[in-house]
Amino acid sequence: MKTYRELAAGVIFEKKGFTMKLKDKPEELELIGKGRSAFAFKIRSTNIVLKVFFPSHLSIVNEEAMIYKILNGNPYYPKMYDYGTNFIAIDYIDGDTLFQCLTTGKYISKQHIVEIDRALKLARESGLNPSDVHLRNILITDDGHIKLIDVARFRQTGTCTQWNDLKRAYKYYRKVYCPKQLPSYLLNCIAFLYKKRMLRVLL
Ligand SMILES: Nc1ncnc2c1ncn2[C@@H]1O[C@H](COP(=O)(O)OP(=O)(O)O)[C@@H](O)[C@H]1O
Ligand SMILES: [Mg+2]
Repeated sequence: MKTYRELAAGVIFEKKGFTMKLKDKPEELELIGKGRSAFAFKIRSTNIVLKVFFPSHLSIVNEEAMIYKILNGNPYYPKMYDYGTNFIAIDYIDGDTLFQCLTTGKYISKQHIVEIDRALKLARESGLNPSDVHLRNILITDDGHIKLIDVARFRQTGTCTQWNDLKRAYKYYRKVYCPKQLPSYLLNCIAFLYKKRMLRVLL
């Protein structure tokens, strides 16, 4: 079997305009997620994800790996197995991101919110400062629990209000009149307006 390093070396990205495309990858890898700094691949017939970073984002690999080391043993975060110049290898999480839950109509309960708060509190107790906590970085597992991924910005200084803002938006979601399933273009549009600081006034 190939090493994580060999598998990651076989992932070739190609920049097309502002977006990053996958040009080539080893047969053993199945693409399961696309982010702004990396693509995530499940290594077939294992429960491991190889997060392979874009050449432009190699400077954050070490930072994310160091944070996973600090979170080691915390049940709300994937375990890390290895890392290298352009990859980290972590547990595969069988479940859906909150973004996927909203697009498929899978219900996000009050208990899930409580669990996310607990996960963030535990990270803070380990000396971290959780940031970049948004819909695509939180998963509800198939057995109904919470896992957080993409921890690269957990040592960022300054206050990140994203999770508190999401919790305020959740109050609207709980109302009976609020649809529990939303099209992804609408969610992307809301995320865009939020980033431009045009929505916080409504929360
Ligand atoms: N361990 C994992 N288990 C399941 N899905 C994952 C895992 N890691 C990443 N993903 C999927 O890949 C996407 C991109 O990964 P992420 O670590 O968030 O990259 P980025 O740092 O570029 O945002 C996530 O939003 C999620 O859908
Ligand atoms: Mg992410």
